[in-house]
Amino acid sequence: MRIPLDRESPIPLYQQIESFLRREITSGGLPPDTRLPATRQLAQSLGVNRITVANAYADLEAHGLVYTRLGAGTFVARSLGGVQTDYAKSETIEHWPSWQQILWHTVRLPAQEERNRLSALAPEPEDLISFAGGVGAPELIPADDFRKALADVLRRDNINALGYGDRAGYLPLRATIAHILADQGILTQADHILVTTGSQQALSLTASLLLRPGDRVLVESPTYPSMIDVFYSLGVEIVGIPVDENGMQIDRVEVELSTAKPTLIYTIPTYQNPTGTIMNGARRRQLLTLAAQYDVPILEDEFVGDLHYDGHSQPALKALDQEGRVIYSGTFSKMLMPGLRLGYIVADGPIYDRLVEWKTVTDLGTSDLIQRALEAYITVGRYQSHLHRACRIYRQRRDIMLAALEKYMPLDCHWQPPHGGLFIWLQLPEGLSTNELYPIALEEKVKFLAGSVCYPGEKSYRHMRLNFTMHPPHQIEEGVRRLAKATRRYMDIKR
Ligand SMILES: Cc1ncc(COP(=O)(O)O)c(C=O)c1O
Repeated sequence: MRIPLDRESPIPLYQQIESFLRREITSGGLPPDTRLPATRQLAQSLGVNRITVANAYADLEAHGLVYTRLGAGTFVARSLGGVQTDYAKSETIEHWPSWQQILWHTVRLPAQEERNRLSALAPEPEDLISFAGGVGAPELIPADDFRKALADVLRRDNINALGYGDRAGYLPLRATIAHILADQGILTQADHILVTTGSQQALSLTASLLLRPGDRVLVESPTYPSMIDVFYSLGVEIVGIPVDENGMQIDRVEVELSTAKPTLIYTIPTYQNPTGTIMNGARRRQLLTLAAQYDVPILEDEFVGDLHYDGHSQPALKALDQEGRVIYSGTFSKMLMPGLRLGYIVADGPIYDRLVEWKTVTDLGTSDLIQRALEAYITVGRYQSHLHRACRIYRQRRDIMLAALEKYMPLDCHWQPPHGGLFIWLQLPEGLSTNELYPIALEEKVKFLAGSVCYPGEKSYRHMRLNFTMHPPHQIEEGVRRLAKATRRYMDIKR
């Protein structure tokens, strides 16, 4: 294979090789299942190091354009959907200025890439039952009440509702948030609360304020994929701490703290995403003690903390924090509706003012109109009754999914019943991979989140995340039946 290489170009050689092959593959010049030359052979013919070719192949694989078969080599993938932008399909990347080419090759988000790679494996069929989502039941969204609240606010506040608003957030809404949090044991006030555009912004603002390239951050492993990407984009070292049935393993946190001090600990202690586990009380207190001992801030992501169905609930880390060591992030996305894009930060001390400034230079404030509408809709009593209803329905759906898993899934699959939140974390037997199961599951018209996207470092491929809240009972049962069928088919292939 003759690949023209420009050794004077600022674009690294491996990227030039990758671009050439990408173009050949997307234009059909290299049809599906074509075997690419062995890395040694191509390296020799191009006069480059073998690693250069291996890096180019690895990039193509990360984008789902090629696949490797152990011992057989690297082949052009069959399905190229999902990962390419339209320009990549129709033109070549070389038509763009160099800075765009460099951007395309160098700025990458690993969790999203892993997701794209998976979705490129197979198209989504119609009448798919998806357990992959990260939100609650759509029919619980109080759309009519919210429409009325929005109209009432526009009538009541008129142009006052249509300005920039308070940069820290609409004050009456911040006061309501403080009341809701008091019910959960977090004693705070409106002037310690910053309203954000979803809790994703709360988390990424805090991370970008506190972290500099080369810093270390401790996270649960597995964890929430979008935070892997946030930390990755900030150029920090992500250190994964294993999670067991009692949450993040604190002895491992201590080892890391004493080895090389991290700048931040990010945790989802309550009904963790993706494992659904809850950190027990002893570990919560140990974590706070360690944070004090090593003077490290904790970013607490409470995305479903109030969706509690049974067992012991635990106080938020923020509720136990007397010294301003915990920055707390909450959201209305899971309990009410993600489309509001309303979340918040609770922070004490100088960091609060810095976060308000950081937020201001980011977007000048979250939509004042939407905040006013939420405030008009949400009284503490209304929030509580909505919460009770959601918990009652989700508890029932969890039980239905657990029963269906027991009934249909092969014996050697394992899961722990979660006591709250949205997810069941299911483990396949040793040697099996949910990434390999994924396209077979899509053929059976069921979808899950493959666990590999949730690992910051070394990946495990044995898990899948199942959302039990999104579908009515008959669909949960049918979805699990399909999942079990796909799993058995996959096991038969592997045998
Ligand atoms: C653990 C976790 N934290 C935070 C978020 C961000 O949600 P939002 O920005 O909608 O509040 C999500 C969304 O899925 C999540 O799963």
